[in-house]
Amino acid sequence: MSENYYVTTPIYYVNDKPHIGHSYTTMLADVLTRFHAAMGEDTFFLTGTDEHGQKVQKAAEQRHMAPLAHCDETVVRFQELWKRLGIHNSDFIRTTQERHKRIVCKILQELFDKGLIYKAEYTGHYCVPCERYFTEKDLLEGGLCPECKRPTTKLVESNYFFKMSQYQDWLIDYIKTHPGFIMPEYRSNETLGFLRKPLGDLCISRPKSRLSWGIELPFDKDYVCYVWFDALINYISAIGYGTDDEKFRKWWSGAHHLIGKDILTTHTVYWPTMLKAMGLPMPKSIFAHGWWLSGQDKMSKSLGNVVNPMDMMNLFGVDAFRYCLMAEMVLGSDASFTQASFIKRYNSDLANDLGNMLSRAVKLTIKYFDGRVPTPGSLEDVDLELKDQAIASIGLMRNAVENMKIDRGLEHVMNVVRAANRYMEKTAPWTLAKQGNMERLATVLYTASETLRIVSGLLLPVMPSKMKEFRMKLGLPEEIAERSDFSGRLEKWGTLEAGTQVHDTEALFPRIVIEDPMAQLKAEGKKAETKPADKAKAVAVGEDMVTIDEFFRTQLKTAKVLEAEKVEGADKLLKLKIELGNETRQIVSGIAKHYQPEDLVGKIIIVVANLKPAKIRGIESYGMLLAAKTGDTLKLATIDGGDFPSGIAVG
Ligand code: MSP
Repeated sequence: MSENYYVTTPIYYVNDKPHIGHSYTTMLADVLTRFHAAMGEDTFFLTGTDEHGQKVQKAAEQRHMAPLAHCDETVVRFQELWKRLGIHNSDFIRTTQERHKRIVCKILQELFDKGLIYKAEYTGHYCVPCERYFTEKDLLEGGLCPECKRPTTKLVESNYFFKMSQYQDWLIDYIKTHPGFIMPEYRSNETLGFLRKPLGDLCISRPKSRLSWGIELPFDKDYVCYVWFDALINYISAIGYGTDDEKFRKWWSGAHHLIGKDILTTHTVYWPTMLKAMGLPMPKSIFAHGWWLSGQDKMSKSLGNVVNPMDMMNLFGVDAFRYCLMAEMVLGSDASFTQASFIKRYNSDLANDLGNMLSRAVKLTIKYFDGRVPTPGSLEDVDLELKDQAIASIGLMRNAVENMKIDRGLEHVMNVVRAANRYMEKTAPWTLAKQGNMERLATVLYTASETLRIVSGLLLPVMPSKMKEFRMKLGLPEEIAERSDFSGRLEKWGTLEAGTQVHDTEALFPRIVIEDPMAQLKAEGKKAETKPADKAKAVAVGEDMVTIDEFFRTQLKTAKVLEAEKVEGADKLLKLKIELGNETRQIVSGIAKHYQPEDLVGKIIIVVANLKPAKIRGIESYGMLLAAKTGDTLKLATIDGGDFPSGIAVG
């Protein structure tokens, strides 16, 4: 294991909004980074966006926008979502940034000068969604793309080629002699299977006459660089390749790429051969995870079954959503997403096992020891058994992280939590209290709390803010509560100091009960028109107060009204165009009886920014403004003084 851990996600296309798949890879990278940092390594975590190419150009055209303006607007969706998901990336690269474009040009020129790039006439079959060329023999029946099974277009044109074919034997040998370079092993075999056919040269240009949105080739102004050749280079341009040798060497020596299985060939064939041609060492590993399926089906916009991470975050809370994603996907395999399976996982692992155990330990400490961590006596076998299991789980988790088996590691940790619950049953602290056996009671509660300290330390990388809260409830000071240190303090039994105050506030993971949306629809005699996730409602049992976290799930933001107009045929409605920081949105609101459109323009109002889009009288509305009404009088909630930027959080 290297001391420097550099992890990357694929850089995402900015042609669409991020979905659960993108969120998963990014979250996985975040969790791995936090684990490696806890294991004492120096870490660097890179993510970003892939902004050139036909897909992005098309998306911009559809919106009648210049490509860069389109990118500038959509990139924010990724950046904001990552913030909301608690992602701590060290850098965010955009392929339209100068720092990246400069390096792509430098590499192109160097390879061209070395004779590794040449020009030739080419006949190929191009797949727009995959942004890739295929030869006749690669195609499926009917000329369909072998990757996404959609129709391809035949093209004949002059282009530039990278001499990829000359590295075929070297690559086969490299993969065979470096187990762990491509993971899981079956993906390595899949790549070797692909390499059984002769490897062609890689077309790395697009004539500007057909596609202008890309990095211009430094040796031919009529062409732009192929988007994949450009995009893959982000992994080195972001860490100082060609500009900061020391930084580059430091991170590249510990590089690990995380990808989805859909982009295996580009990462395990194109990228290694490009690196070889540049004379650079290979990354340590390329790990391809499986797909999140919606139930049993592939997620796709046309099927309307794409899971929106925002919905899930609102339902579970950020940290619990992170936990469920990590625990539910066996790394490498496909996983099925259903809201029901996530709720089941949440309720059993977090609400029942973990939440319940914390509540027991803290409540009993409050009841019998005035809320102060008690001083333990000597440990009996039953205590030692739990202690040993808790300490052993640190090693098991380390191992799971090093072998990319996060789900297994979490399972080990949850086994300790379940053992701790059983320990409470076995030792029956409430009976000890009745018997007045306070010394034994102190030992039991201390053992239970120390076990929870270890467990929560192991879960910190997955649930950073919930576990910090958890640990502070146990009585740990903030600076220890928020840091996980797998090699030092975590395994030191006795870290909880006797006499410190524990805290019992509201449940960290209130149970979620779900009203069965299908049953409800049936009862209403309606046909289900939307996916269950849209209809489901979560109710925290027995709680009508909200916590600060719950309040902040509703994003209230300042917005500036840019335009306002009446909606034809709806005398109560106004259609507003509002500015929310860098973004503009349309909202529809029932305030036409109370405000003239011209009175609204320029006002700074307050909107719910993360409200699910809705159609009001057939018009899309992306948010809701706040207003108060008494009798016939309605007044907008505005910002005092009015002179204030838009997009600022209110709370
Ligand atoms: N821009 C390229 C990657 C270039 S990397 C040098 C690209 N972008 S993408 O926006 O299409 O994102 C692909 C990645 O998103 C996948 O590899 C995977 O990491 C993630 N996912 C997208 N859908 C997914 C699922 N349904 N399930 C899991 N992850 C998937 O390809």
